[in-house]
Amino acid sequence: MNMPPTDINVLNRRFGAPGRIAFRTDKMGAPILALVNRYGSCELSLYGGHVLDYRPIGHVPVLFMSKKSLFEPGKPIRGGIPVCWPWFGSASEKTLPLHGFARIMPWDLHSTEYSSDVTEARLSLSASEATRRFWPHAFELTLRVWLDQRLNLALTTVNRDAHPITFTQAFHPYFRIRQIMDVNVRGLDQAPYRDLLTNQTGTQTGVLNIRAETDRVYTPPAPECVLHDPGIGRALALAYTGAKRLVVWNPWIDKARAMPDFGDDEYTGMICLEPANTDGDEVTLEPGARHTLSLALQASLI
Ligand code: BG6
Repeated sequence: MNMPPTDINVLNRRFGAPGRIAFRTDKMGAPILALVNRYGSCELSLYGGHVLDYRPIGHVPVLFMSKKSLFEPGKPIRGGIPVCWPWFGSASEKTLPLHGFARIMPWDLHSTEYSSDVTEARLSLSASEATRRFWPHAFELTLRVWLDQRLNLALTTVNRDAHPITFTQAFHPYFRIRQIMDVNVRGLDQAPYRDLLTNQTGTQTGVLNIRAETDRVYTPPAPECVLHDPGIGRALALAYTGAKRLVVWNPWIDKARAMPDFGDDEYTGMICLEPANTDGDEVTLEPGARHTLSLALQASLI
């Protein structure tokens, strides 16, 4: 699963635009695409179709990236916005990669474009010999990432097979925060949840504070929430479509220590809020049909 060799000059000539769209490579040779507009910038890797960084002007970075993230072929990147697809969590066949294979595959760059306000890239991943080792179906996956006053992602799945396909999925953003004990998540009041650590169900009351390892699948009252971070002085609004759940994850102390690609203390500076279709709300597409999962992030000062 090596990255195909890339000529950055060719990518810059074909898809670049001075001051708006530029390419570099990471340490495994994967192309990274920077998108810039008057409202900020973001970086996107063709490895995994993975947003690595988002910096609205006037803000510290919105996304967390572990200092220990591996950036190795076949391994997921620990931070940014992983794309979990075509399954969220573990597959029925336990030897298959957690959270699907899309986040550990090289994607193709389909196109870039920009206007005075918007800078955009379109990536794609289609069925190949490599994907058929994990999932025996024909599909086409497109990831549109565009910057306007927000950072926007839209992941469209098209069934290119002759039979129905069924999948689960998520955007798995890691948000950078000042201190986990001080942040809260708003918009989940009265939301039922399933706790993946205890398999118990519950109902959220008021804002969500994180005080221990957390791995919950919420059914939110509306497809939006706000991450309130008084330490940074930021309210980050998430709005999404095409997802029935919001997964909230923080590994806390023991799990942080157990993860080789995550610093022991880094759990204090991150939280994952993941618009998802999980087990029990699989998406099924007839031949030729499509489904889009979208996410928009908007930062405001508080
Ligand atoms: C979350 C899951 O979405 O991702 C957790 O709910 C999981 O159970 C976490 O531990 C991280 O997964 P991974 O594969 O990126 O280590």
